Amino acid sequence: MASLTAHPSQALAGRLQVPGDKSISHRALMLGALAVGQTRITGLLEGEDVLNTATAMRALGAEVTRQEDGVWQVWGRGVGGLREPEDVLDFGNSGTGARLAMGLVAGQPLNAVFTGDASLRRRPMARIMRPLEEMGVRFMAREGGRLPLTVSGPETLRPITYRLPVASAQVKSAILLTGIAAPGKTTVIEPEPTRDHSERILSHFGAEIEVSDRDDGRHVILTGQPELTAAPVNIPADPSSAAFPLVAALLLPGSEITLPAVGMNPLRTGLLTTLREMGADLVEENTRQEAGEPVADLRIRAGRLQAVTVPAARTPSMIDEYPILAIAAACAEGVTHLEGLAELRVKESDRLAAMARGLQACGVKVEEEQDSLTIHGAGGPPPGGGTIEADLDHRIAMSFLVMGLCAQHPVTVDDAGPINTSFPGFTEAMRALGADLRPSDSA
Ligand code: S3P
Repeated sequence: MASLTAHPSQALAGRLQVPGDKSISHRALMLGALAVGQTRITGLLEGEDVLNTATAMRALGAEVTRQEDGVWQVWGRGVGGLREPEDVLDFGNSGTGARLAMGLVAGQPLNAVFTGDASLRRRPMARIMRPLEEMGVRFMAREGGRLPLTVSGPETLRPITYRLPVASAQVKSAILLTGIAAPGKTTVIEPEPTRDHSERILSHFGAEIEVSDRDDGRHVILTGQPELTAAPVNIPADPSSAAFPLVAALLLPGSEITLPAVGMNPLRTGLLTTLREMGADLVEENTRQEAGEPVADLRIRAGRLQAVTVPAARTPSMIDEYPILAIAAACAEGVTHLEGLAELRVKESDRLAAMARGLQACGVKVEEEQDSLTIHGAGGPPPGGGTIEADLDHRIAMSFLVMGLCAQHPVTVDDAGPINTSFPGFTEAMRALGADLRPSDSA
């Protein structure tokens, strides 16, 4: 385990190209594997999560090659053309990789065994199994619907209409990916809309997908058995990764940084909305579209932040950003309330508990409830000084390193390794902006 210490830092300055969007990278490889022809992907995230998906797509028969940094090519097998993998598919730390790939393979009469690391093996899979079983797919899983599990796709799938019991883009996407192979229309009803990258990339590859907002929620309707045709995908920078330098620059007085080509999908921008409510100076420039996704360059200037109440309705649009928002709240003036956080308990770690524990270790007063968190802001640098257990969670690790840059005393993260799942080169990129990050033994 490589521990890392963040020391109180001076102003950040410069331009940082944040790596590609993780959600879109997984989907580009998977759709590429199902499409007919050659898909060229630029800006692919070369983090461990996505590399595991690339390996899995190869095991399913797709030809996946890396041309140069971020530029990849996928020769797809066509809908129904995947082959049974010879060995277990290991998705490492990635819930998205595992859950979406279950949907992908469930559409074919083959058996595939899924596993992952200690974090992924404790995460719930029953949320995927239930709807897919309604479609005729069979699973054999460990107690409580945990990995490792086996997926057996049927000869013929039943298209279904399924109302999501939890707001989850992964569940929606798994159903849609299975629905590709089903005859007729598969419908997912979302009480709260979640990220729509699957819908966008499916229509980019030629599937017929209709989205309508009705009284009971958003209806996403996919017409099954489409011909998917390879299409180029240019992946924007991941707004969830951009969040770390962005918040660090807001909190370190005198900072000014630019983050080019960040994904601005409106179902991902809840953090920006919240930070603006707190008084943040965030400017979007050069707004444009890339492969069906909105993108902008972000310019960030430091400034004082005020506490805020974040309503539960905003949770899906910033589900991965609560750990870093908690750091901003700890430095803001006043008491911040975060509501509707139950899903954070089943992420790479129990993030709600990890946030509360970490903030306390850094001298910040917090109250943790079953699905909410109250953070008493210091109105400037909080004490810091804690040692944080990352517990195989990249976002907890990066968030508390940002805390250490902005606090009065250094903060140590016991294991910075998980950062490679989503933000390879994080330490070097942050140092280039002026962040004081050092291996802990030289602290
Ligand atoms: C993701 C969906 C979200 C998010 C995850 C990526 C996706 O998970 O937390 O990091 O790419 O579909 P849930 O669907 O479990 O909310």
